[in-house]
Amino acid sequence: MIVTIDRLGHLGHGIAQGPIYVPGTLPGEVVEGTPDGDRLADPKIVTPSPNRVKPPCRHARACGGCQLQHASEPFVAAWKQEVVANALAGQGLSTDFLPLVTSPPNSRRRATLSARRTKSGVLIGFHARASDTIAEIPDCQLLHPGILAAFPGLQALVMAGGSRTTELSLQVTLTRGGPDVVVTGGKPLDANLRLDLARLVETHSFSRLTWDGETIALRDRPALTMGTATVVPPAGAFLQATREGEAALLHAVRQALGPQKRIVDLFSGVGTFTLPLAQDMEVHAVEGDAAMTKALDVAARNTPNLHRISTETRDLFRRPLEPDELLTFTGAVIDPPRAGAEAQTDRLAASKIPVIAAVSCNPVTFARDARALVAAGYRLDWIQVVDQFRWSTHIELVARLSR
Ligand SMILES: C[S@@+](CC[C@H](N)C(=O)[O-])C[C@H]1O[C@@H](n2cnc3c(N)ncnc32)[C@H](O)[C@@H]1O
Repeated sequence: MIVTIDRLGHLGHGIAQGPIYVPGTLPGEVVEGTPDGDRLADPKIVTPSPNRVKPPCRHARACGGCQLQHASEPFVAAWKQEVVANALAGQGLSTDFLPLVTSPPNSRRRATLSARRTKSGVLIGFHARASDTIAEIPDCQLLHPGILAAFPGLQALVMAGGSRTTELSLQVTLTRGGPDVVVTGGKPLDANLRLDLARLVETHSFSRLTWDGETIALRDRPALTMGTATVVPPAGAFLQATREGEAALLHAVRQALGPQKRIVDLFSGVGTFTLPLAQDMEVHAVEGDAAMTKALDVAARNTPNLHRISTETRDLFRRPLEPDELLTFTGAVIDPPRAGAEAQTDRLAASKIPVIAAVSCNPVTFARDARALVAAGYRLDWIQVVDQFRWSTHIELVARLSR
């Protein structure tokens, strides 16, 4: 069977009429293969797209960590922007796009790896394509060299506390004190294992090790720099995945807000936006996770020369800030999880806040929330798409809304 790929789906698969899904293909490509349900088995590309490139990573075929290594950077940028434009069109909206910013290769300072013990040793990597096997990735083009350098230490952790039957998840974050490692799915802790793991933290200079929720060792502070502040995030807390992505999001947020006196940072996390913005304006930060709010509060109190930062732990889905609580702010930043922020957006729509910098990791929920704001009289001035997760189908954006 021969098909022509019409478009890319949200998982990065090529889609031909039918629909027939063909992973690893691009729009315009003519592909031959054996039909297998709604897929094409053993696809061979008869006519390649001019947007096709040789995957830069030698693991691209086996590893499922990246979905779009076979596509050129300009193609991926245009595609990601189009996904956002289509989500907006679905809500009857359109806007201008600022030029997309892509994080460079080898910039992921935070990654979650899969691991297991094997007969001969330890396997650490990302899952292979559509599979529960783990692909090894010694020459990964995504991970920061600091994470790749931590692999011997991670292998030692898995050797000590992993089993051949259960897969472990290793979340690794590069911090000023060394890699901060959060393990789930490890062997149950006993006195000997605690001791062995603590020794490995010393030997391999990890900053902190958390094992199925328990802090095993804190060798050095897992500190990060945000603006002029030093933050020590709780283990596993949300962080932007690359420093470059974080900088691009912050730059767009600043551009959206312009000079301000007092703003509210909704879904503030540990202060990714709050702390740098407080160099120029007062910020009230609201976050649902008390440990994150505390980390932000400590960072704020220990940093000189910032404008006033106040913090509040609050579930913004159940108890959004009401319009009368929003009266004192001249601007708002909102950066909700993938589900978006329907309830808080309704209150913003009823507020008098002149400008909103809306950050989102989900174009669909963003477009839904933007529509509510536009219906209430806001203009959608522009959108900046940030490709923090290069070679993946993940999309992030900052939008300016004003009235
Ligand atoms: C996409 S992250 C953004 C965090 C921060 N702005 C940053 O860039 O690091 C979303 C944040 O929303 C928080 N969150 C999730 N659900 C929440 C809720 N119902 N109420 C308040 N905060 C919530 C998460 O803990 C997380 O810190």
